[in-house]
Amino acid sequence: MKTANLVLTFTCVVSFTGTHAKTGYFWHITDFHYDPLYTSQGDTRRHCRRADERGSSGHHRAVGRYGDYSCDSSLDLIESAARYMRTRHSENVEFVLWTGDIIAARYNANEDDRYQAIRNMTDLLSRTFSSHFVFPVLGHLDPAPSESLTNLWMHWLPLEALQTFKYGGYYTIEQKQSKLRIVALNTNLFSMRESNSPQTRSQWLWLNTTLDKATENKEMVYIVGHAAPGSDSRHGYDSASNANYLRTIRRHARIIAGQFFGHLHADTFRVIYDNDRPVSWALLAPSVSPHRDPSGSSNPGLRLYKFDTNTGKVLDYTQYYLDLATANRNVGAAEWTAEYNLTQYYGLHEVSPISLHNLADKLRIGTPYETTMFNKYLRAYNARHDSSDACDGACAHQHFCAITCLEHLAYRQCVEAAASALAAAGKSSPLVAPLMNTLVILFIVVMFV
Ligand SMILES: *[C@@H]1O[C@H](CO)[C@@H](O)[C@H](O)[C@H]1NC(C)=O
Ligand SMILES: *[C@@H]1O[C@H](CO)[C@@H](O)[C@H](O)[C@H]1NC(C)=O
Ligand SMILES: *[C@@H]1O[C@H](CO)[C@@H](O)[C@H](O)[C@H]1NC(C)=O
Repeated sequence: MKTANLVLTFTCVVSFTGTHAKTGYFWHITDFHYDPLYTSQGDTRRHCRRADERGSSGHHRAVGRYGDYSCDSSLDLIESAARYMRTRHSENVEFVLWTGDIIAARYNANEDDRYQAIRNMTDLLSRTFSSHFVFPVLGHLDPAPSESLTNLWMHWLPLEALQTFKYGGYYTIEQKQSKLRIVALNTNLFSMRESNSPQTRSQWLWLNTTLDKATENKEMVYIVGHAAPGSDSRHGYDSASNANYLRTIRRHARIIAGQFFGHLHADTFRVIYDNDRPVSWALLAPSVSPHRDPSGSSNPGLRLYKFDTNTGKVLDYTQYYLDLATANRNVGAAEWTAEYNLTQYYGLHEVSPISLHNLADKLRIGTPYETTMFNKYLRAYNARHDSSDACDGACAHQHFCAITCLEHLAYRQCVEAAASALAAAGKSSPLVAPLMNTLVILFIVVMFV
């Protein structure tokens, strides 16, 4: 009896403060790609694992304790991320979104070893967020839903969620104090390979029903998944699933307060349109892993969202990152720091479909202002890692197409239209040409004024 009373008092206090605290926070962390075989004695040609005696020719460069831009994550890197998040704990952290790809692709050990690695990551997050719920979703590198996976995460999910998770890897969570509903998708079921599975059909039906019910109950919804819709990713949605997903989002756009994905190992965003009107957005968080498959790299990132707990409206986020090269040079601990805040960095008044549409529009290379904006975007895209591969005009336009054209066909047309326009504009470097034209015009104007 005594315990029951205590619990009751406790819940009353919590819900009381809950209605008053309007601003809350949640973490979005993604794509750990934990590689248990990573070693700082490793060889970059062998994914930073130990070279065997025969293979080591002795001229590979040293890899760092916290990881390498060409490899998946070391345990030290992930532990440093967890430590940093603990220090950032404001009282108002409400939950954590963990969007999959927990274990490195190349850690193709047996199932038991992979399971143990996932359990270790789960334990780490349980210790880091001992008084919070972590909401995990499955990435394409994660195992299919199972009894053991469900047991591993049962301390984070209510019973009803565990049931659908065990069957299909999807679930929904009601945030009681805020009329906010989290809809966690298994985006693996949107791939070609799964398109005819009963789990895929169930997830679609369930998604329809869940969103209809949320509308009835006047709830706002966060959609959470590993891979975002659109054309620009491997292991993405097949065309039918992609179209179906976008149709679903358009139909329920009024109650969808945000979509959150990982997978690309890049910091970017997507705008969804309904007859040319921006109606919804998706934000893609950068990975903890510094390596981007099949090639490319970025600094490790962690994201803390700020939202209105009463309405679910996303107010901002702070992007944190680790300068990996510096961390490896320093003898001491890795120093994670704030990289930027969304609204301040891009000068947005709010986080909304229209504001992100306007931002996308400013990323079209043309004027010097747009070039500046695009370079800003590109710096964030790689979490400030200076990528050696330059992004020319065609590349910049592909970014614009990926952000604004999520339908597969529209994306292809967008990219092709740009390619032919660039070809028509001449043979000079695509990024430099429009910039040079503007500069020449400016120069002439200055000369003659
Ligand atoms: C998991 O953690 C245990 C205990 O620290 C350790 O012995 C084991 O090697 C770890 N396994 C993996 C795959 O990380
Ligand atoms: C979801 O609902 C829409 C509109 O009611 C319907 O057109 C669609 O077929 C439904 N999808 C499934 C898989 O039930
Ligand atoms: C970014 O946002 C965080 C969290 O709201 C805040 O503490 C910090 O002061 C902001 N930084 C800047 C530069 O606006």
